Amino acid sequence: MNNDISTRQASVSDDINGFLAQKIQALPDHAIRLKSAMQHALLAGGKRIRPLLHNITATTLGVNEQDTVPIGAAIECIHAYSLVHDDLPAMDDDDTRRGQPTCHIAFDEATAILAGDALQTLAFEILTTAEIKGLHADKRLQIVRSIAEASGYLGMCGGQAIDLAATNTTIDIERLTQLHQLKTGALLTGCVKSAISMADSVSPKDQSALLQYATNIGLAFQVQDDILDVTASSETLGKPSGSDVQANKSTFPSLLGLTNAQQKLQKYHQQALQALTGLPYNTELLRQFADLMMQRKY
Ligand code: IPE
Ligand code: IPE
Ligand code: MG
Ligand code: MG
Ligand code: MG
Repeated sequence: MNNDISTRQASVSDDINGFLAQKIQALPDHAIRLKSAMQHALLAGGKRIRPLLHNITATTLGVNEQDTVPIGAAIECIHAYSLVHDDLPAMDDDDTRRGQPTCHIAFDEATAILAGDALQTLAFEILTTAEIKGLHADKRLQIVRSIAEASGYLGMCGGQAIDLAATNTTIDIERLTQLHQLKTGALLTGCVKSAISMADSVSPKDQSALLQYATNIGLAFQVQDDILDVTASSETLGKPSGSDVQANKSTFPSLLGLTNAQQKLQKYHQQALQALTGLPYNTELLRQFADLMMQRKY
């Protein structure tokens, strides 16, 4: 184990990439085009931020680092599926992702829809079957529930629906915050919740502080994503810059202006750090993760 977030990010990426590559490779070849599309969506890059958050939360709480890999990988399957569908013509209609053609461009729309569907169910196959030493069935059930809630109507899908409804119209800041919390914050919170479920026992007070941290991280992450859409180049992002502006999306910069959006980002960062004070653990990596969210350039 190491105590620097960049080193940890590199080792988590290696573990997750290895686990997922093996998972895809093990699938039989009866629908090879679909399998290739899943591979394209899952293994062509990605910062692996969500598995990293799951890993550092779990290890902070004393969980064995190797036990975090399958759950991080399952969360990454949900994330990859959400991106494949998010890029479809019926949604954001974007042609590049992670510096490559998006799934529906590299393959076709029908295959991309199926790749998203199959990645979503692969996540639950991993969550229900992965060998994790000493993980009781009731804890595994809690984790399945957290990830299901974070992904569906109560989380990502609900947020994406609000995002679509808020396109070409103006919404207030409360509604925008709810949109961000659901479409992006929920899965990041799921990374923390599932880590709490894996730990031996975390007091209700400490759980609530960790969830407060996760909520602010989730908001900061999407506010930064919206800021990067207007400040970074497509080359740096690996996805089309200005996509939100072109589609007339409701975002923090479009509603508040860039400077106020940057101030909101600072506020969420500070609130995330504040939530960590008083926790009876070594929270250094969680603190560094919050800083990383502020500094990321893509
Ligand atoms: C992009 O997520 C989509 C959002 C929720 C903002 P990431 O920025 O984590 O994308 P990858 O996985 O690193 O490509
Ligand atoms: C995506 O938000 C959130 C998801 C649930 C996929 P965006 O539409 O802003 O993500 P990018 O900018 O395309 O990565
Ligand atoms: Mg979108
Ligand atoms: Mg998008
Ligand atoms: Mg975006």
